[in-house]
Amino acid sequence: MLPFVLIAPLESLIVSAAAHHPGLFVTFEGPECAGKSTQSRLLAERLRADGREVLLTREPGGCVLGERLRELLLHFDGDGGLSPEAELLLFAASRAQITRQVIRPHLDRGGVVLCDRYLDSTVAYQGYARGFDRDTIAQVNAVATQGLRPDLTILLDLDAEAIAARANARGEGGNRFEDEDLAFHRRVIDGFRAIAAQEPGRVRLHDAREPVETLHEAIYEAVRHALAPLR
Ligand code: TYD
Repeated sequence: MLPFVLIAPLESLIVSAAAHHPGLFVTFEGPECAGKSTQSRLLAERLRADGREVLLTREPGGCVLGERLRELLLHFDGDGGLSPEAELLLFAASRAQITRQVIRPHLDRGGVVLCDRYLDSTVAYQGYARGFDRDTIAQVNAVATQGLRPDLTILLDLDAEAIAARANARGEGGNRFEDEDLAFHRRVIDGFRAIAAQEPGRVRLHDAREPVETLHEAIYEAVRHALAPLR
């Protein structure tokens, strides 16, 4: 009996402590080529010009361990490739490190964190596209996130045909995910859309085909609204 008596309150303490911080945690999500990096950079510049303390980071990556894991996650081709289980756990390992080392401290100081991808990417890619069930993803990521959830998620929505056209236009060498077929990318997109439908309060869906400036203004307004109660 004793371990249960001890563990239950401890766990809820950890989760509730993690959920509360004086900052704002904004994530950018979406399929490949949707323009997340451009939009997160523009937003960071705008918020800094407003005098906000902004940390712009990305997943996988954003810290020394995360960047090393990113290299493996995007390009590992030994041993016949990464197993789906290893992939799930390596994304979680990168998330655990960046959450504790980088994201939490900035939020605890009352700053704004803009993160290019977070847990929703695992739900869309490893869940909807690779087939892991939600409970498994939730269990693994409860450890990785320590209960931290984004306050606001900007989802840049793009269909699979538009992704293929943009990828061709860029003409860059692919990574393990970009090299997946159209059906895989369709499942990713369906996953993101389902998340947005399930959590309309947190997730704002934007059409990624909008001009860069139009999108930026809409995203800036959403974030300004979310910042209003802070200061
Ligand atoms: P990246 O070059 O950052 O893609 P993009 O520029 O489109 O954001 O590569 C990250 C890849 O990792 C991307 O294809 C999505 C994938 N990914 C997952 O499969 N699961 C995850 O949890 C995360 C964070 C990313």
